[in-house]
Amino acid sequence: MQAFVYHIPTRVIFGKGTEAQTAEQVKQAGAKRVFLVYGGGSAKRSGLLDRIQADLAREGIACMTLGGVQANPRLGLARQGVQQAIEFGADLILAVGGGSVIDTAKAIAHGAACPGTDIWEFWLGRQKVTASLPVGVVLTISAAGSETSDSAVLTDEVTGTKRGLSTPFNRPLFAILDPELTYTLPRYQIACGIVDIMMHTMDRYFTPTKGNQLTDAFAEALLRTVIANGPAALENSRDYQAMSELMWCGSVSHNGLTGLGAAIDFAPHKLGHELSGRFDVAHGASLSTVWGHWARYCLHQDPARFAQFGRQVWGVTEPDDQSAAEQAIQCTVDFFHSLGMPTCFSELGVGVQPEEVLYQMADKATRGDTFLLGSFLPLNREKALEIYR
Ligand code: NZQ
Ligand code: ZN
Repeated sequence: MQAFVYHIPTRVIFGKGTEAQTAEQVKQAGAKRVFLVYGGGSAKRSGLLDRIQADLAREGIACMTLGGVQANPRLGLARQGVQQAIEFGADLILAVGGGSVIDTAKAIAHGAACPGTDIWEFWLGRQKVTASLPVGVVLTISAAGSETSDSAVLTDEVTGTKRGLSTPFNRPLFAILDPELTYTLPRYQIACGIVDIMMHTMDRYFTPTKGNQLTDAFAEALLRTVIANGPAALENSRDYQAMSELMWCGSVSHNGLTGLGAAIDFAPHKLGHELSGRFDVAHGASLSTVWGHWARYCLHQDPARFAQFGRQVWGVTEPDDQSAAEQAIQCTVDFFHSLGMPTCFSELGVGVQPEEVLYQMADKATRGDTFLLGSFLPLNREKALEIYR
């Protein structure tokens, strides 16, 4: 087990009706001027936005809103939000939505606390985040885990570059996790979320670090829970039991717990980001498209690890490691299919891509072959290209 620091400062408020505690949480934070960020309209249509605004007003808290955050959130809107939040004098950024809204809120919080710095400099790694405004979250979709994670992902819409930023300043102050708020999710978004939740743990599980029993057990239990509850959630999005399991799994999967003490990989995520950056496909769909191909390419690196994944997560009984590993990969790909998720470019809807496009994606992901993706089997441009092929 490697040394680690585990500090998860986000206050999680979980359960039915917890949405009503939003204004109280804002008040507890000492905030008086809230800059509220939301997405393309689901929170407005469900009445959630109006209820939160009314509650804030009752507490005497001023509120300015910025809507229109798209999936694969755009840098341009985040920059606009920074300007508006500064002019408004915001002292807390409140995200009402999913990963895209939360990540935009995080970007606005960093930008508003560091006026004069272009926020993309943080994402390019040319400036360090040294201050941020507090971010509160009312979560409406179980997927990205941004509500407790230390990362935020933005897309520069001009260049099609999708990039993540990890910093302790990305951890929200509080996160309201009310599973009933996810009842209105379309089936496809639930499926994308299931894949993303699994992948946050799998991208930690496939690691070169050995001998991490408790962390492995957390990871395997989380995956089994998602696999058990995902189909029920897809069947009926008003199944409180299934939706609440997914919601808690989503947060725990990306807060660091399921990879503690080990090197993380995240190569499939980085390969997927190129697909979202170029084709604007949903994050979860980019991951289900890539994973099986990544796994088959990496299998030789550590068949015993894939076999353990198969036995502990999928109940594979095959004694031979190589066969168990192959079965484990097939079980995962079949599960993604059963959710209606794509597992290749044509299923993703972008069609078979010419070699030139695959090369450009591999080149961009590895930053001109100067950056290795992942730690399980570190991928240079050539290896990334082979996986895309
Ligand atoms: O925009 P609205 O109208 O709200 O609709 C959204 C959007 O179309 C809809 N939705 C959300 N809650 C709903 C709902 N529709 C009906 N009822 C509800 N209750 O769902 C769609 C997707 O929303 P989005 O926020 O994009 O989903 P998700 O949470 O999957 O976030 C994806 C983004 O997060 C990034 C992804 O790359 C992607 O950009 N990630 C962020 C991470 C982080 N910050 O830690 C980690 C992840 O690996 C991921 O990269
Ligand atoms: Zn993800």
